[in-house]
Parts: sequence; structure tokens; C-alpha cells
Amino acid sequence: MYGMVNRALQELIVQEHGEAAWQRIKSQAGVSHEEFSSMAPYDDKITYDLAIAASAVLDAPLDLLLDAFGRFWVQFAQRSSYAILLEQAGKDLHEILPMLNELHTRLALSFPELQPPSFEVLEDTPEHILLRYETFRPALAPFVIGLLHGLAEMVKTPIEVDHLEAKGEEHDADLFRIRFVAA
Ligand code: HEM
Repeated sequence: MYGMVNRALQELIVQEHGEAAWQRIKSQAGVSHEEFSSMAPYDDKITYDLAIAASAVLDAPLDLLLDAFGRFWVQFAQRSSYAILLEQAGKDLHEILPMLNELHTRLALSFPELQPPSFEVLEDTPEHILLRYETFRPALAPFVIGLLHGLAEMVKTPIEVDHLEAKGEEHDADLFRIRFVAA
């Protein structure tokens, strides 16, 4: 994945746990990069190794960490030079979620080797949205749940997310129900 992702992970860990924790995580992951260049593509294995090492060093379940990273990613993106893409995607989740593919397609102009996920809104009602998430990458559903909460915070809409189907032998994609709940 592009270095931007590893940089965001680094920023989250340093912010929450300090520089020493980040150095321990890098060393446990066997990652020797001094820093990551946002615009350069890196092997996915680096990102996964860092997340797994973070889970071990911080003694936190990987799913929880990925969820927190998803929430953080939305804030990180809002501070980045790509914030405009989020703004233009829409003003609420009904508008934004159908635009996620378009958003990543536009990003691919700056990141030509981007391998983005694919999202599809299957149902959209005032009460809920059914969202299908497809990727060749494993184990990122908790990251998506965090991203959805991050987006919901951005547009100040309380939600709950049900993970209805998980990619595996039975299903070739994840399915989420985003429920709009009272504040
Ligand atoms: C301006 C905002 C955003 C930027 C700059 C951005 C950028 C990126 C980048 C650079 C990657 C790594 C892919 C690669 O390097 O091949 C990525 C992956 C991903 N993005 Fe975004 N993204 C944004 C918003 C979102 C939002 C709002 C979602 C909401 C669900 C999302 C979902 C994902 C997921 C799930 C992945 C993991 C890759 C996979 O599933 O295979 N992104 N994004």
C-alpha cells in the first residue's frame, strides 16, 4: 500500500503511545525504514507486519486496533491534501458511500499503482444502508467498520454497524448494515 497508509499508522501510534512504542513496533515487525514516503507504493506485507506487531507490543486485539485506525484515517485524510475529495463526496452517508469508488478512482490519478477496494450500496433507506465491500486483501473488515464510524463522526450522524456477512468460504465479500440511531 502507498506510504501514506504507513505514515498514518505511525502518526496514530506516536500520538497515542509515544515514539518509543513506535520504534519497538517497527523493530518487532522487522521494518527498518526510517520513514515512509507518502507517494511511494510499499509491499502490503509491511503494513500488515506493522499492524500485527502493534497488536503484540500494545497488547491490544488486532481488530480493535484496525477499527481505531479506520476512525483515525478519516481525520488524517481530512488534514491531508486530499481532503477536498471527501468534501466533494457529499454531505451525508447517503451521498458519500456511493461515491467511495469514484473517490479512489480520482486518487489513482495521483497514485497510479493504487489497488483500491470496491464498495457497492445495495440498499439505501432512511433507517439503514447496506454496503458491500470487496477486496483481494485479507482481514480488513474491522478497518472498514472504523472508517464508517469515522465518516459518521465527520458528518455528525450517530450510527451502528452490523457485520452481516464476512468474506470467506461462503461469501466473496463483506456485507455491512449501517444503522442510523438516535444520538
Ligand atoms: C480522501 C480520503 C481517502 C484517501 C486519501 C484514501 C486513500 C487510500 C489509499 C492510499 C489506500 C491504499 C491502497 C493502495 O495503496 O493500494 C486506501 C485503501 C483503502 N481505502 Fe481509502 N482513502 C480515502 C478514503 C476512504 C474512505 C472514506 C473509505 C471508506 C470506507 C476508504 C476505504 C479504504 C479501504 C477499505 C482500503 C483498504 C484497501 C483494501 O480494502 O484493499 N478510503 N485508501
